[in-house]
Amino acid sequence: MRAAKQFMQLGAAALLLVADASAQNPAGTVRQGQEVFAKTCATGYCHGAKGASGGAPRLVGRGFDQAFIANTVSRGIPGTGMPSFANTLTRPDLVAVVAYVATLNGIAEPAVSMAGGPPAQPALTGDAARGQKLFTEAVRGFGRCSTCHEVGGFGIPVASPIVTVPASAAALKAIATPNLKTAKLDGESMPALVLSEGKQRVIFYDFTSAPPVQRTAEPGAVTFAAGSSWQHSSAIGAYNDSELAQILVYLRGAIKP
Ligand code: HEC
Repeated sequence: MRAAKQFMQLGAAALLLVADASAQNPAGTVRQGQEVFAKTCATGYCHGAKGASGGAPRLVGRGFDQAFIANTVSRGIPGTGMPSFANTLTRPDLVAVVAYVATLNGIAEPAVSMAGGPPAQPALTGDAARGQKLFTEAVRGFGRCSTCHEVGGFGIPVASPIVTVPASAAALKAIATPNLKTAKLDGESMPALVLSEGKQRVIFYDFTSAPPVQRTAEPGAVTFAAGSSWQHSSAIGAYNDSELAQILVYLRGAIKP
């Protein structure tokens, strides 16, 4: 494990060095990346023209750093429609498309070489690595945490960002959900998380089933009462206690107070 870590540190150093040495034609690389993106990533089903979002998440202005982008493009995101491109794109195309997506995230001078090796892997091992995988794992269906939570760029931020990581699986099952209300709409009651209450319309998530469904109503048509019957413990039944404990190990590392 120690050797692996050293190897990754070396890899990262090499990446930086070569990026410096070969800043030959960054603008050309970004242009090449834009072409690769248009052909490979920009279909309506995926990230849309110029990353402005299609069926898959928006990539513009997300604050992604280049190492994160390189990792995601190379490795894919398990359990989602995002494949690994490490073996389907040539290395120059891979480098170029990563540089292009970096520019969409405000990185004016992206690194334009990756030293021939794969980009640095996140240095997760043991329970943290297992927890990261469990968080987004496809076999959990909509019961996976990433259905409602975004951590480290993975998942859908239905709930507001996780700030406090519970101390144990039992504590995670017992968390209070003070922001869940009971909505009444067209004579129907449902657990709801309000997104916005404007003069024109009210937008909320209906938590009747997973994944929560976004609904829009006219302000007069919907009322919200404090409290709800929704329980977080029922949303995470796809995991056993030791799996939840591994997810918590991952979250403790990923969420900086
Ligand atoms: C169906 C949606 C859903 C799923 C699935 C889900 N959560 Fe949540 N979670 C929520 C909502 C909504 C809240 C916030 C409730 C509130 O603010 O009242 C929440 C709150 C939390 C909190 C408290 C955050 C804080 O800072 O206080 C933690 C921790 C958490 N969830 C972890 C998890 C983990 C780990 C998983 C997977 C094992 C998971 N959740 C699965 C919807 C979900």
